Amino acid sequence: MPNEVTFPFEQINVVLKDGSQFTLQGSELHSALQYIPTQGYPPLIKSLKEFTFKIHQPPNWQNREVLVTNGSQDGISKSLEMIVEEGDDVLVQNPLYTGTEIILKPFRPNLLGVEQDDFGIIPKKLIDVLETCKAKYTEEGGGRRKMPKVIYINPTGSNPTGTTMSLERRKEIYQICCKYNILILEDDAYCFLHFLDKQPVSFLSLDTEGRVIRFDSMSKVLSSGLRLGWFYWKIYFRNGVSRACYLTLHLLVHTTGLGATSHLPQWKDILRDYVTGMYPPVACSYGSNKTPLKQIDKAMNVLAELIREEQLLLRRKLDSLENNIIR
Ligand SMILES: Cc1ncc(COP(=O)(O)O)c(C=O)c1O
Repeated sequence: MPNEVTFPFEQINVVLKDGSQFTLQGSELHSALQYIPTQGYPPLIKSLKEFTFKIHQPPNWQNREVLVTNGSQDGISKSLEMIVEEGDDVLVQNPLYTGTEIILKPFRPNLLGVEQDDFGIIPKKLIDVLETCKAKYTEEGGGRRKMPKVIYINPTGSNPTGTTMSLERRKEIYQICCKYNILILEDDAYCFLHFLDKQPVSFLSLDTEGRVIRFDSMSKVLSSGLRLGWFYWKIYFRNGVSRACYLTLHLLVHTTGLGATSHLPQWKDILRDYVTGMYPPVACSYGSNKTPLKQIDKAMNVLAELIREEQLLLRRKLDSLENNIIR
């Protein structure tokens, strides 16, 4: 390891928009600039564990493990790389987040899109897809082709539909996945960006069987450029987590230490505020109380007005076209 004392940095000062500031210096700065364990910067891992436990209270908590990633996209990519084999069937919500489609493409998978409505993936449609697989595989594949083993879901603020899955739906989908032995990849990048009064219950919170791999991201609430994400696995996939660690080690040694360390002071504040109930559910600009809601409301009204005007214009154009045709 290089001796960080020889590095030219004395301190890094960060000033936040709300006027508060923090300084990285001494041992914390050294940690930020030094090689760190592949799994992630240890104090960050500790904070992530506390945070996840407090927010999600996952069943079988002691059997779960975390890996810090370069944003959630990195975690999704590593997980899919470990789970999916070329030509596999993969269950996805339809429409699908293009980032996941891009990750999956090299595996040339057979994407089984499951239709969504206003409450997310429709349970009946998921069952239909699975039952079709069952019938087809026994008949055509002589039982040799395997059933799909994984489903990819964005339960909150789904990309691109914006839908947030209701609790009832989450429970139903979870039960179906238990019945058909499907792993759930819960990509919850928009976990804190919703208009509900309460934080939605995550699949991780419902995961009594340890079949949920949950991906979190700080991209949408703190910064996308700092590339901070993480994911949780059940320990019996420890092999998988070690493989994911090896993949990280192989590709980039470890994720950014500077990003992880510089987040920590804010991270702790968010955690405290959240847990004490001060964290606004629409967290797009955390810390500034109700302003974001008002701004969003205003923006929505302007948008609605524009759409109305556009509709009127279109109506007029259509009327004049119709009149011309009739004449
Ligand atoms: C649903 C979803 N998942 C993952 C990501 C990637 O997030 P990250 O920046 O944490 O890699 C995005 C980014 O737009 C997204 O919309």
